[in-house]
Amino acid sequence: MLRVSDSSRDTAQGAGWGSAEPGAYKQLMPPHVRKVSWLDPRTLWAARNGVLASWFGDPTGRTRGRWVARRQAAGVPADKVFRREVPDRFSFMVIGDTGEGGDSQYAAVPGFLKTGRGTEFAVITSDVIYPVGSADDYGNNFFRPYRDYPAPIYAIPGNHDWYEGLGAFMRVFCGDTPPLAPAPRPRPLGRAWWRALLWHRPHPKDGQHLDEARKLRSAPGQQAEQPGPYWALDAGPVRLVGIDTGLLGTLDAEQGAWLREVSAGPRPKILLTGSPLYVDGEHHPCPIDGGGTVDDIVRDPEHHYVAAIGGDIHNYQRYPVQVDGRTIQYVVSGGGGAFMHATHTIPRVSVGGVTERDFRCYPLRGDSLAFYSRLYARRLRLPRVGLSESEATAVIAERLGVEPGRAPGPGTRVTRRTRLVASLLGAGGRPDRTSRFRLPVRKTYTQLFSPSSVTYTPPFFKSFLRLDVSAREIRVRCFAATGNRPQELDPPLEDEVVIPLERAL
Ligand SMILES: [Fe+2]
Repeated sequence: MLRVSDSSRDTAQGAGWGSAEPGAYKQLMPPHVRKVSWLDPRTLWAARNGVLASWFGDPTGRTRGRWVARRQAAGVPADKVFRREVPDRFSFMVIGDTGEGGDSQYAAVPGFLKTGRGTEFAVITSDVIYPVGSADDYGNNFFRPYRDYPAPIYAIPGNHDWYEGLGAFMRVFCGDTPPLAPAPRPRPLGRAWWRALLWHRPHPKDGQHLDEARKLRSAPGQQAEQPGPYWALDAGPVRLVGIDTGLLGTLDAEQGAWLREVSAGPRPKILLTGSPLYVDGEHHPCPIDGGGTVDDIVRDPEHHYVAAIGGDIHNYQRYPVQVDGRTIQYVVSGGGGAFMHATHTIPRVSVGGVTERDFRCYPLRGDSLAFYSRLYARRLRLPRVGLSESEATAVIAERLGVEPGRAPGPGTRVTRRTRLVASLLGAGGRPDRTSRFRLPVRKTYTQLFSPSSVTYTPPFFKSFLRLDVSAREIRVRCFAATGNRPQELDPPLEDEVVIPLERAL
């Protein structure tokens, strides 16, 4: 039986603050870790294909079509539905944006293994491998961290997995699919020609160490093969539908048509996507080439979706949205391994009928603000910029006009200094007098600077989900990993929701 310790909603220690015994996760790490620096020009240059796709047109849909055709030629059914025999009651794990290979990924592993005991399988929702999805990074960023997870792991790709054309992902998750032949040469000086000229491609020797790395997860029970980058998995009463939103967070027309097809029928469904549909207090319905959106399909009452879980943003958020008298749980779960995206910049939530009363996030906004304020205090060598978790919690409650997620310590006062720091760090996302001078933690800056929040000491604010399925209901729980030993031994429960299935069946 899983014991559950204090969460970040109970105590500051539950959030990982204060001095605690460090986690044992370091023993799982390889002797030499290549630290991903998101400010290193070499990393940014290698990850340039997303920018090139937005400038010169996105070739992902066509490349994906070629991968899918190749899988079909190898015998994969056109509907891309596969099945797993499971007991009447079964459980599975969902973990997002894992593949950074450093402390923050490995810090989540002991809690993931403990919480994942007895689960039938796990799904990684996007960004399996940073920075560019290379085959040679699968050893330290996938096979090693999950070597002791005894069940299969399926995945959907994120934008980072596409930065080298998805070849490594297809080898690892899709039956060792061999590389695609080079695409035909585009017309000189056209947009596609410029794109091809500047395009980042895998190193010719990439993947030499893959066979060695695979030995780390070579037990028969760990083997997994999925139909392609997008798929549907029938397990017990539910269908999981994994989509591939590519480099730019969109769906090609062929995948859109497939999604409509596999979404039909009374079986309750959970969407798994690299691009969350509700995130940071906003609705992002995810366009499909040729018309319509992914969220149109999710909301259609004929399709019986009960939840849509997305990665991409490296924290946890939940929006229970009322759709025609039903509740669909829209979840962000991208806190499985990479640097932490801020939650304190999420404005007072009012979207799709969801307000602060029903919205949940992890880390709590106060903890996110304390984390970032201390990060900048260290970077800028200005200790007064650093806020204690109590100060940050109190100032967030004041700015948003909400009850604090956790009671701040006794005697905590909101001072001019705490207000100024909160304002500079974009707390609450509210524009005000100082917003012109906000430090870069959100929006356009997020891509470039939030990644620089990579840290190597707790608290890491990592999270993952365990879903327990029966014929009557699905229980979704978000567990946390701080990087400290107490939370490795008893992963704290940060959120829980039970989805009844009767009405969908
Ligand atoms: Fe990511």
